[in-house]
Amino acid sequence: MRFDVLTLFPGIFEGYLSESLLKDAIERGALEVCLHNMRDWANDKHNTMDDRPFGGGPGMVLKVDRIVPCVEEVQTYAERPGRLVMLTPQGRPLTQRVVEELAQEERILLLCGRYEGFDQRVVEILQPDEISIGDYVLNGGEVAAAVVIDSVMRLIPGVLGDENSAVVDSFSSGNRLLEEDQYTRPREYRGLTVPEILLSGDHGAIERWRSSNRREKTLARRPDLLDGEETKIDEDEKKKKKKKRPKKTEEPEAVAESENVAEAKPSETPEAVDATETNVDV
Ligand code: ADE
Repeated sequence: MRFDVLTLFPGIFEGYLSESLLKDAIERGALEVCLHNMRDWANDKHNTMDDRPFGGGPGMVLKVDRIVPCVEEVQTYAERPGRLVMLTPQGRPLTQRVVEELAQEERILLLCGRYEGFDQRVVEILQPDEISIGDYVLNGGEVAAAVVIDSVMRLIPGVLGDENSAVVDSFSSGNRLLEEDQYTRPREYRGLTVPEILLSGDHGAIERWRSSNRREKTLARRPDLLDGEETKIDEDEKKKKKKKRPKKTEEPEAVAESENVAEAKPSETPEAVDATETNVDV
């Protein structure tokens, strides 16, 4: 996969790209990250990339006649123009669902804003996928672009040591709930011990403990994830029952539904995915 980062501050990425998993992935050729300094597209002697906003107001606006040619030229640097992502607090929220969608792409261009943002005509002409990493304002899109690279690269086959580890992460398609508690040696530290069950060697019991730990933790910290999921399961079960029994019966529907909710695994219900999408604030 190839990322092209368009920024006024390429130096921000240098340390980040030369460490740990990202460095390994780039060295192995599993990932390519190309940095482009947008200032190279400034065509006046002062290297101007921004200007005062029409109508007045604070800050500066990135100029359409610099940004559009820059993006259009970078799009030609590979066989396909790629998917253009603009990092902006006004974009759609980055969720694991969006990360999974982006991970399908061969090439992504990450357009990083600064100052008060881009002239709106940049959006109208280039029609980027506008993405926000949260409801707060950063100094620019660079940190947000690094978040996109970091979260997407985890899903590219061969980039993580153990391919499965990305699947069980919180919010990933194998687990839409928070991750369970983890322990390693020593078995006891300052009087705190590891849950006995994890030392039992009984894999079935360990999996049941993990599953209930995930559920309890999600209920305590992010009940919105669980509520959405269970409500959706309820709705789905009702639909199924309607299909099976066209005529009204006297069966105790409420009891049957709650049993089914207890049995359903969140990771196996597409509805849980929808619930995550609508409920998770990153
Ligand atoms: N640029 C500034 N703030 C941002 C945010 N929250 N998400 C994405 N890009 C941004």
